[in-house]
This record gives sequence, C-alpha cells and structure tokens, in this order.
Amino acid sequence: MSSETLSSATDVKNLVHPYTNLGDHFNKGPMIIERGEGVYIYDNHGKRYLEGMSGLWCTSLGFSEERLVNAAIEQFKKLPYYHLFNSRSNTPAIELSEKLLEIAPKSLAKVLYANSGSEANDAAVKLVWFYHNALGKPAKKKIISRLRGYHGVTVASGSLTGLPANHQFFDLPIDRILHTDCPSYYHGANPGESEEAFTQRLINNLEQLILKEGPDTVGAFIAEPVMGAGGVIVPPKGYFEGVQKILKKYDILFIVDEVICGFGRTGNMFGSDTFNLQPDIMSVAKALSSSYLPISATLISQPIYEKIAEQSDEVGVFAHGVTYAGHPICAAVALETLKIYQDKNIVSHVQEVAPYFLSKLHSLSAHPLVGETRGIGLIGAIELTQDKASKKPFDPSVKIEKLVQENAAKHGVLVRGIRNAIALCPPLIITKEQIDELFNGVEAGLNAALETVEASKASA
Ligand SMILES: Cc1ncc(COP(=O)(O)O)c(C=O)c1O
Repeated sequence: MSSETLSSATDVKNLVHPYTNLGDHFNKGPMIIERGEGVYIYDNHGKRYLEGMSGLWCTSLGFSEERLVNAAIEQFKKLPYYHLFNSRSNTPAIELSEKLLEIAPKSLAKVLYANSGSEANDAAVKLVWFYHNALGKPAKKKIISRLRGYHGVTVASGSLTGLPANHQFFDLPIDRILHTDCPSYYHGANPGESEEAFTQRLINNLEQLILKEGPDTVGAFIAEPVMGAGGVIVPPKGYFEGVQKILKKYDILFIVDEVICGFGRTGNMFGSDTFNLQPDIMSVAKALSSSYLPISATLISQPIYEKIAEQSDEVGVFAHGVTYAGHPICAAVALETLKIYQDKNIVSHVQEVAPYFLSKLHSLSAHPLVGETRGIGLIGAIELTQDKASKKPFDPSVKIEKLVQENAAKHGVLVRGIRNAIALCPPLIITKEQIDELFNGVEAGLNAALETVEASKASA
C-alpha cells in the first residue's frame, strides 16, 4: 500500500486516535508522519514541519539522534530482555538508576521503573498507600491533586488528572482523590486581586481543604512544577513555597510529577530545581529517553523506601512491578539520553536560548487574539481571547485554538491547541534561527485565524 493511499479516511478507520475529534478525523484522516530529522518531521507527502511540541512534550533531542539508535542496537545484540523480579536485574537498569540518582533532587534515593508517565504516577499512588499502611496510618490515604493538572489516564493517574474530559463517562475520579485550585493567576484571580493575594488565597484554600478532610486522612499532594496539558500554567511566585510549608505542617508527602518538566525543560535539570521543590516521590518519563523508547520511573526518598522494604519483608514480597520495568533496551537508550544531556550541556543550551524563546513568545502578547503569553525555559503558551480587557474566551464552537494550530501547520510549524491556548514545547536542541522559524509559523497561524474570525463577524 502506498503512503498516499494510507492517508485516505477509509484506511485509518481501524485506528482510534486519542484526543481527536473522531468525527473530523474520519472525514479528513490524520496527518501521517513518516520521518524525522533534528527538530523537523516530514509527512507522507514530503512536507516538512518544525515540531514545536516535541511530539507530545517529549522528543527532547529531536528526531534523529544517532547515539540513541546505536545504544538500542548494541543492547539488542547483547541482551534484548531481562526483568527485575525475583532478585534478578540487568546492567542498563542498574546504571540508569545510578545516573538518575546522581542528577535527581537529593531527597530521592531509590528508583522504580515502568513504561509510561501514567504508570509512574499510578505507582506513586500505590506507594503512598502502602507506606501509610506500613506506618500504621491506614486512614492517611487521600491524595490532593489540582484542577487542570495532568498526570495520565490510567484509573488512578486519570483520577489525579484534573481535566473534565478525562473523567466524564470514564467514572473517574475514584474515591480518595481530591482536587484543589489551579495556580493560574490569569484564569483564577478575582477582579482587582494582586498576584500575591491570589497565591495566598490558594494556599489558604489548600489548608482549608486539608482541615476539612482531616489531616490524618490526607497522605499526599501531587503537582507538576509547570502544568503542561492543562494549558502550560507557570505557578506564581511564592506558590510552591507556601504549598510546601502546608504539606510539612500536616505531614503530607509531596509527589512531584516531572514527566514534562524533567531533564532541562524549565532551564534546570528538573522543575524541582527551578522551583526549589523537595519531592518525597518524583515521576519521570518522556525526555528520560527522549521518547525513543517507552520508559518511566518513580523515584522515592530513603525513609519511604526503608518503611516499604521493612513491610515487604513482613509480607514476604514487594508485590508490585510490570514485565517491562527496567527493560534493558529502554534503559540503555535512557542512559545514553542522560549521557547526551551531559555531553551536550543541554541545560546550558536551554539557559542560553530560553530568553530568546520567551522574548519571542511575549512579543505576541500585542496580537489582537492574545490574552496572555506565559512560559519558562523552553515551554510556553499563548492564551487566546476574543476580548483582551475582559479576558472573554471564544465560544468552544469557534475552535479558535484549532484554527491557529491548523494554520500554523500550513506554514510548516506544529504546535498544539489546548482549550483556548496554543502550547509550545520544542525539542531542547532547538537553535535561535529555528526559534525564529517557530514563531514565524505561529504568528502566521494567529493572523490567519484572526482573518477567519473577522470574516465570520463581518458576515454575521
Ligand atoms: C505531567 C504528565 N504526567 C503524566 C503524563 C502521562 O504520561 P503517559 O502519557 O506516558 O502515560 C503526562 C503525559 O502527557 C504528563 O504530561
């Protein structure tokens, strides 16, 4: 079958595409990507796009890193599979753990592997529950997450996610998962409220929720340093400082979800470094392997590990783990990814180009469709509005973010429309020239969307 025929609607009927309006999808068919080179990908018609989202916030090293290909081939030849169960292990998994702990926040001491961010967060939930049972605090099980937070789609991680579409009709969230405010000053501030007052109100709300539920029933709080899929929400100054004080006060564990922020994205190795977070548990995935192969990890502190180990000894086994955890090929590729981050000084590169990325991003705030631009490091968003003063969003039927997304794609740039915003998260290897190209495409997308909006107003 030629690639041309593959793009027809009939040939893709047997695929279900997540996060796609399936009606549109069956009419037009998806964009089919065939190859990649650096920060670019090519579709099946040979059209080149700058991948302004690193796929799904993940291909940090771009689409043609030979060292990762070679690491996989070498490991395939040596040992294509071995597990970590029953007192067995494999070398790449051990070496990866050592490397991860070398760069991770110092509060973390042990590593548990899985295949996806969702599983890493599911494991975090189970570890919180197991730990509190082991401590003799069986009531301390509720986990507080945040509205607009995104932590995955499995039963527990999908419950942690604070987005309606991930809950509706899926019978989520499960019990013992609570949601507190999203720290978006743009969306959540009361009229006339200062950023400082807004931040303090959110911290007070968190404390009130804990007191209402009973501190002895709240086991953990989970947060992304910067929310990704919820619309790239950069927390206001002092937010995490206040949150961490409350967590300490009520003896509540802090799970930091670094699935997007980890490995340089925010301008430091981890979002935890950028926002001075001290995780008890931390989940990583995506850029852990530059997403060349699926691998995720849940890192835990020494006290949590010791208690869990002690309790497991009593039971006779720590009965949690998946077949592909620490898969040697995935681990070898992840280990090579971390070595490339060091060899290429990727964090320094992000620190060098991020101010340019952010200045280009913020220069778009003058555009008539733009309500707010926000970002940090190499992640950002453009909030779209039909009225800058009142921040009024467009009616969802306008699909304004899709209009910008599709028009930017016509200009050779892939970005993601999320709710009323456009998200940007390019590969970390992006150059300043490529940042120019990225924003030229985004601006062209915004201008084309504005023309459509004005044309429909004129014809109304
Ligand atoms: C912050 C965060 N956590 C968890 C996940 C879930 O990861 P996965 O899709 O690999 O299950 C994602 C995915 O986008 C994410 O952005």
